Amino acid sequence: MTSPTFPSPAWLVGCGNMAGAMVDGWRAAGIDLSPVLAIRPSGTPVDGVRTVTALPAGESPAFVMLGFKPQKLDQVVPGLAPRLGPATILVSLLAGVEAATLRQRFPTVRAIVRAMPNLPVAQRRGVIALYTGDRDSEALATVEALMTALGVAPVVATEAEFSAIGAVAGSGPAYVARFVEALAAGGEGIGLTPDLAAQVALETLIGTAAMAAATGLPMSELARRVASPKGTTEAGLAILDAPDGLKPLIARMLAAAIARGRELASAARG
Ligand SMILES: NC(=O)c1ccc[n+]([C@@H]2O[C@H](COP(=O)([O-])OP(=O)(O)OC[C@H]3O[C@@H](n4cnc5c(N)ncnc54)[C@H](OP(=O)(O)O)[C@@H]3O)[C@@H](O)[C@H]2O)c1
Repeated sequence: MTSPTFPSPAWLVGCGNMAGAMVDGWRAAGIDLSPVLAIRPSGTPVDGVRTVTALPAGESPAFVMLGFKPQKLDQVVPGLAPRLGPATILVSLLAGVEAATLRQRFPTVRAIVRAMPNLPVAQRRGVIALYTGDRDSEALATVEALMTALGVAPVVATEAEFSAIGAVAGSGPAYVARFVEALAAGGEGIGLTPDLAAQVALETLIGTAAMAAATGLPMSELARRVASPKGTTEAGLAILDAPDGLKPLIARMLAAAIARGRELASAARG
């Protein structure tokens, strides 16, 4: 497969944790970053791409990726929108900001694609949901190829699905991190030193993920293989599987994230 290429010039407007992780992944994938310019007020250098503090003079970008916080939209639009044109493919990472809102704010651009990545894009093991309300299949294919270099990039048909993937996968590394922290704290609670508990919990996560990836087993089967009937694991799973156990807790967690996304969407609509 040939390496995907960035339309030139390509601007990353805001390049902090998330866009920076994507750059790391693209660099690891050997993608040519010479057309890419990172624009961030602090000017903090982004490894592998030219970094500037303000939008450059000259031609409109062929590709622009919005990587600032959704709350900054009002501040960024007046300077950016007039610089974009009918050749610009706009990719937005802004959680909660709907395609129709983006179209209103950036009326002249060729196509708008929302992308909801997660941080493991840096390791090229990301999940990047993609959604477009436009019918520009070539623009979507360009974005899809770049995102597929960073992991799995499902294109979804509705923004509701897009938000759902954001809640599960975009935020997911934070949730998984909390689970591992809780497992470590639990280990401390039953007598391990903090360092050993943290190491054991983390290695359990990594080992389980490696096993899942290597075998392709469904999670239910994976758990079944650990838990022998009437054994210790089964006793532990009974607590997680109780009516007030893990599933309702996670349903509440996701509902809270989705509700916050709705608030952000409504704020961005103005
Ligand atoms: N973090 C995640 O896991 C994740 C997951 C999915 C989606 N997202 C989305 O990704 C976006 C960025 O999140 P983040 O976690 O990467 O935030 P972040 O680390 O705070 O990065 C924000 C970036 O925006 C820049 N910025 C601030 N004001 C700006 C302005 N007026 N014009 C241009 N750039 C400006 C910052 O510049 P300086 O570096 O100079 O301060 C920084 O580079 C958000 O919209 C979020 O919804 C994040």
